[in-house]
Amino acid sequence: MCGIVGYIGKDKCLPKIISGLESLEYRGYDSAGVAYVTKKGIVIKKEQGRIANLKNSLNMDEEGYMGIGHTRWATHGKPCQINSHPHQCGKITIVHNGIIENYDELKKQLAYDFKSETDSEVVAALIDKLYSEEKDMIKVLTKLKNYLIGSYALGIIVEGDEKIYAIRKDSPLIIGVSENGNFIASDVPAILEYTKMYYLLLNDEFAVITKDNVDIYDQNGQLCTKSLMTFEGNREAAMKNGYEHYMIKEIFEQPKVVMDTIKEYIVDYEHLKKRMNGLEKYNAIDIIGCGSAYHVGLVGKSLISKYAKIPVNVDIASEYRYTEHIYDKNHLIILISQSGETADTLAVLRKAKAEGIDTLAIVNVVGSSIAREADKVLYIKAGPEIAVATTKAYMCQLMILSLIALYLGINKGLLDEKVLCEFTKMDELLKDVLDNKDELAEVAKTIYKNNDIFFIGRKVDYALCMEASLKLKEVSYLHSEAYAAGELKHGTISLIEEKTPVISIITDDDIRLKTLSNVKEVCARGALSIIISNEKITDKQLYDKLILVPKVHELISSALVMVKCQLIAYYVAKLRGCDIDKPRNLAKSVTVE
Ligand code: F6R
Repeated sequence: MCGIVGYIGKDKCLPKIISGLESLEYRGYDSAGVAYVTKKGIVIKKEQGRIANLKNSLNMDEEGYMGIGHTRWATHGKPCQINSHPHQCGKITIVHNGIIENYDELKKQLAYDFKSETDSEVVAALIDKLYSEEKDMIKVLTKLKNYLIGSYALGIIVEGDEKIYAIRKDSPLIIGVSENGNFIASDVPAILEYTKMYYLLLNDEFAVITKDNVDIYDQNGQLCTKSLMTFEGNREAAMKNGYEHYMIKEIFEQPKVVMDTIKEYIVDYEHLKKRMNGLEKYNAIDIIGCGSAYHVGLVGKSLISKYAKIPVNVDIASEYRYTEHIYDKNHLIILISQSGETADTLAVLRKAKAEGIDTLAIVNVVGSSIAREADKVLYIKAGPEIAVATTKAYMCQLMILSLIALYLGINKGLLDEKVLCEFTKMDELLKDVLDNKDELAEVAKTIYKNNDIFFIGRKVDYALCMEASLKLKEVSYLHSEAYAAGELKHGTISLIEEKTPVISIITDDDIRLKTLSNVKEVCARGALSIIISNEKITDKQLYDKLILVPKVHELISSALVMVKCQLIAYYVAKLRGCDIDKPRNLAKSVTVE
């Protein structure tokens, strides 16, 4: 989604704004722009495409000590220069992240000559109108929420005023503080080169920022006191560290971050009990997420219902939020989100709270909206995830769901405490799988030129197929589908022809023979059969390639399979020359509906 960076201080602003925007590239964008103040007034430059295009159009050494920058991910109006930010109306220049739902209505009321198709330009016009009436930005920003319906993080500059104004509602915005000047940004990586100190703006709060001061006001326009936060990680952690792409770097970080996550929750059973305390009271669970977070929820459902015998329903947030639900007396809603800012997941959380249902969030980004608003948070320890396609966050989410199944299973006397030990081997197991990466690079060579690929599996293996398929298609643009193996003959098998790759995941002993009989069916139609299994398969007629994973407890087995699938997706995307870390049309943090 859109990224915002602004700077006011003693240094020239352009290098800081551009490097900040580059740090936010992972959010996804299709155009970029800046507005900065020179002796001659406000200069606006914007370009379609990569930040590099914008940089080429700028003299990075130009005098100018205050400015705002933006990367746009198109929502209202196509990606083009005119629709790019900043937008200027009268004395007001803004950058905006979010969606204004009533922009059409506002547009009709505002007598401006609008140039773009965006909702954001309407906000600039509205602020200009309010400013011409009030002549005081504090009053304008206090009033703004009364006019806008939707979500917004705004960076604002006013002609002739040496300040940056910032306000937010339901879109992230932080205020960075350093000796040489102050920043606004959508996310911490944008300021880390210059400072680790920042303020978190809450909904409807706003800030007035000068080169040596930050004033924060509450929603009533009263000055308020906020504590300065310190970012605990370092910028190095967010860089590629010698790897060709963030995606492969993040895949290889998994042994560490998975163990970091596990150690946070397991020292011994008492520790796990303390961390998960309270979950045992629920007799029905809904797990909600989007994309990969939804897929990991499906694995969680399989594990929690099998090992803790609790009914679990999993749904996609954008569906769930508009569906009627009947809640049990002790009902829990688990929201899964790496970013903690996904609009649909956040909407489900708010609806659940309004209805008085208990909520638990599994989140990576500390202090994000979902983490702050849920009744309880179980943080994963994935660290900053930069590649748009999630890998390490999915894996850590998977661990938390397994730990929930483990805790509830032990609590009910259905699992032995000894199973805890299985988790402590995770880093070694994952390292072994990663050591065999070359076999996946070879598999990629056999499939990357195809047009379609199918993943088949049953039960938990089907849930893994869904994520494996998403990973492959989003980074390689190769069409792929996940199918419940037993459903093939109800339609999809008609697509299988000579050499169509079918990747079968078979780890569930209860259903192994059933899936193998589906493998036979696709082999009979000439499919190129690749099997990922935790057991040797004696009938060599059933596969062209067998990828083995170690046979371990089912609570941790899925993680090993997923690493294999992530590597296949990565190598296929590489062979197809794709922009692996920033697949087209995608954004890292989906803060609009
Ligand atoms: C796919 C992917 C997305 C996200 C989804 C939810 O690789 O990354 O499907 O899983 O957009 O994002 P979060 O977890 O931030 O809520």
